[in-house]
Amino acid sequence: SRTIVVTGAGSGIGQATARLSRDQGDRVLGVDLRGTEIEADLSTAAGRTEAAERIAEQSGGTLDALVACAGVATPGETMVRVNFFGTTELVTALQPLLAKSAAGRIAVTGSISGTQPVDADLVAALLAGDEEAAVARCTPLLETGNGHRIYPSTKSALAQWARRLAIAPGYADAGIPLNVVAPGVVLTPMSAPLFEDARMREAMATAVPMPLNGHATPEDVAEVLGFLISTANTHVTGQVVYVDGGAEVTVRGPAV
Ligand code: NAI
Repeated sequence: SRTIVVTGAGSGIGQATARLSRDQGDRVLGVDLRGTEIEADLSTAAGRTEAAERIAEQSGGTLDALVACAGVATPGETMVRVNFFGTTELVTALQPLLAKSAAGRIAVTGSISGTQPVDADLVAALLAGDEEAAVARCTPLLETGNGHRIYPSTKSALAQWARRLAIAPGYADAGIPLNVVAPGVVLTPMSAPLFEDARMREAMATAVPMPLNGHATPEDVAEVLGFLISTANTHVTGQVVYVDGGAEVTVRGPAV
């Protein structure tokens, strides 16, 4: 059986992904703040290091797949630390374990929001891997009423980072696909507060129109993540796979 790490396994998309993998007979090491095999705070460097060490121990040194779902929706420093660095730092820390597998696979969670307007300075700091500069950029954004740019910036940067790394040494050339799943609106504890406000519901319907089957369940997204990390995925890498009921094509149009 394969050994799979899922971050954010305590809720929503991560929880559904962990369940799907377990149902297939995989051994899952869930990572979350609490209630999972490995409890760690991915917003800090120490927490990421601790998670990587525990994963190395509990996996026995070989890892078959990593799915990164941990994320937060409240604009601010923690969002930058978890959504971006909580994923990127863990991926690079676990690459040696994934390289030992005959079929190492990585999938990370972006968002349709990554296609929305971003803050160029924040994206640049993220892509430079400069956590303190990225965190520092949050204060002026929040103070000027631009806090809503932080989430799309973390998700756009994550997708760009993944596309670069997918073909960097140690990934494609080591047989490890690295892809991004970019969901539209998914019915999870994260998105639930958005539905409580009528104006927000309307704004979401306009920004993220989902003509194919409407809002997704966590399981809908988990199925796609499941394929991307499966041994059946031999040639898909560096891709941003929108699991969004047609939102991306509706908003951006058919040009590729
Ligand atoms: P969720 O809130 O249900 O689950 C996220 C999990 O991440 C939680 O269990 C939480 O404890 C964990 N987490 C947060 N901070 C952490 C930290 N510092 N260390 C360790 N774990 C931490 O959210 P959901 O909806 O399942 O989201 C999963 C991913 O999908 C996120 O990256 C989110 O940005 C993304 N996404 C969600 C969408 C939605 O509509 N729900 C749409 C597009 C993307």
